[in-house]
Amino acid sequence: MVPDGAAADANASRNARRERGRRPRWASCRDALWSLTDPHLAPGARVAVVGAGNGDDLPLGRIAHRASVVTLLDIDDAAAAEAVRRVRRGLRRRIRVVQHDVTRGAVDRVVHAASHEGAVGAPAARGAAVGPRSGPATTGDGGTRLPGGPYDLVIGDLLYSQLLYPALLDAGVPADRRRATIAREGGPLTAGVVAVLHASAPVVVHVHDPACWGNGYAQPVELRDVLDAADDDPGEALRLAARAKGPREADPRPALAEAGVPVLSTALWHWPFVDGVDYLVVGTVAGAPRSAGA
Ligand SMILES: C[S@@+](CC[C@H](N)C(=O)[O-])C[C@H]1O[C@@H](n2cnc3c(N)ncnc32)[C@H](O)[C@@H]1O
Repeated sequence: MVPDGAAADANASRNARRERGRRPRWASCRDALWSLTDPHLAPGARVAVVGAGNGDDLPLGRIAHRASVVTLLDIDDAAAAEAVRRVRRGLRRRIRVVQHDVTRGAVDRVVHAASHEGAVGAPAARGAAVGPRSGPATTGDGGTRLPGGPYDLVIGDLLYSQLLYPALLDAGVPADRRRATIAREGGPLTAGVVAVLHASAPVVVHVHDPACWGNGYAQPVELRDVLDAADDDPGEALRLAARAKGPREADPRPALAEAGVPVLSTALWHWPFVDGVDYLVVGTVAGAPRSAGA
């Protein structure tokens, strides 16, 4: 069931717009995510995926084949439940779906404050709902872990850029206030989610989409050049990608650096979102290196 909240409604309506042909078009994304995850996924592992959504970019069957339990957590559990139905019947019993807002209501508080900014008696938007001390990582009520945790591996699957923007847009927050709200609240919100994921497993695979080509965006670098650079040197590709315009506040990597969490591996790939709209995806494995023989 989708709860009554701005973030849940905004994400559920986007997930419901899943168009025909998406699954075969995103096959290379599932392969890329599997290649990145495979070395960190031990047989019988307990795995959580946050932002599983429709599961079209997620190699869910391959993960379930290796793992003992896979928990799909999403603010829109209906989409995730549908994704499970596309997995081979024999593996489905290993997969659970849990409706969960990984921000624990922080996004809805930000959206509420931004929608009422300037109104008499309105909550102050600045720091009203989320921040390094009051965000999801430090709620102080035992909510620092994902439900069902701890896990052996957590995947944060393309949710970072979707935490705030869709809900602000659908709430009708004017563009200038939307930009200011995202600039102020987006970074702390992302950092809070990163902290929750790392409190829930020793290793986390973060998947995020730092830049888009098409959709009327004029980018100063070509996606092809970033991907070509990634073949030899992901670090160089990231430096090139940093020149592209995109939602920097939704990048989990600065939060990892800030928290001193080591990056174990990085891969970049092409996300052919719809005809004429392409995203760059950055996959980052971070956490504790596996000890020898583990
Ligand atoms: C772009 S989709 C990810 C793609 C998805 N894995 C797929 O293949 O369809 C982002 C997902 O993050 C989920 N999401 C957004 N905000 C969330 C939150 N606060 N808590 C949990 N899930 C959230 C959305 O419901 C959506 O399913």
